[in-house]
Amino acid sequence: MAHRVGIVGGDGIGPEVIAEGLKVIAAAGVELDTVDYDLGGDRYLRDGVVLTDEIIDEWRGLDAIYLGAVGTPDVPPGVIERGMLLRMRFELDLYINQRPFSLPSTAGSDPAQAGDTQGHEFIVIRENTEGTYAGEGGFLRKDTPEEIATQGSVNTRHGVERCIRYAFELAMTRRKHLTMVHKTNVLTFSGDLWDRTFNEVAADYPEVETAYNHVDAACIYFVDDPQRYDVIVTDNLFGDILTDLGGAVSGGIGFASSANLHPGQVSMFEPVHGSAPDIVGTGKANPTAAVLSAVLMLEHLGENDAADRIRAACSDTDSLVGSTTEIGDLIVSRLSA
Ligand code: IPM
Ligand code: MN
Repeated sequence: MAHRVGIVGGDGIGPEVIAEGLKVIAAAGVELDTVDYDLGGDRYLRDGVVLTDEIIDEWRGLDAIYLGAVGTPDVPPGVIERGMLLRMRFELDLYINQRPFSLPSTAGSDPAQAGDTQGHEFIVIRENTEGTYAGEGGFLRKDTPEEIATQGSVNTRHGVERCIRYAFELAMTRRKHLTMVHKTNVLTFSGDLWDRTFNEVAADYPEVETAYNHVDAACIYFVDDPQRYDVIVTDNLFGDILTDLGGAVSGGIGFASSANLHPGQVSMFEPVHGSAPDIVGTGKANPTAAVLSAVLMLEHLGENDAADRIRAACSDTDSLVGSTTEIGDLIVSRLSA
């Protein structure tokens, strides 16, 4: 039976890269039963709709959602991001944001660690429903000289534990190495909850070697010595920032894929990059991140054979050059070769 997948091309280059992803999925022999959703900044400007309760209910009945990018410069910041993308993550309880990175041969600037980094993969598990993203906070005395703005970080034991547990389970399927990234030396409340939870869950996984880095130090290691990492687990905002850096050190954001997961339920798959309105229609958008996000979606759908074949077709990232459709065609041609 075909998998039921909601398609949100979204804004800017979103529809362009999603078209390539769907082309590659079809070429790999996987049949999808797709439902298109016209959402994003353009839709909002047209009729004021960001997302409706009815659409969210429909999504609950799907197997997956494949999303390009949302956001246009004409809409004030936050409207689409909070009203659609974050609402989707929260209401569908997509509590894991999984972002894998594959290093090019030149990664790592620390000569002491020099070596062939080609193909070294590490994965960031970003908590996806809490932290500073939860929306706690507000204004006092707004628009006065005494204005106060607060933005709290929400960390529940339940939310932190299920994310950390997922990361340990993932580590067990890989090199059995897990690093927690936080800022426990300053965030002594949320950091303490993360630290205690991490250590308690670690006791259930004695085979997994654990490490801890403060987020500022992790930024140095991402640039100098990313090979040290296998699986990383971190909070929502640190994960947001670190995964852009992860993209930058692993060939560019054009290769960075992501899965917004609730294991066993409808989950959402999107490239890490945004809608890039400056290059829309130029053919410059690299569809590889969208194709690799499709790989994560196929794994979620249990289509592991197709996922493996597409991933292999994308592995030589240096050669994935050309226009948006040329890169899509190249990946397709490698599939059938
Ligand atoms: C991401 C994006 C989003 C985030 C924005 C668009 C709300 O940057 O998926 O990383 O901050 O999570
Ligand atoms: Mn981001």
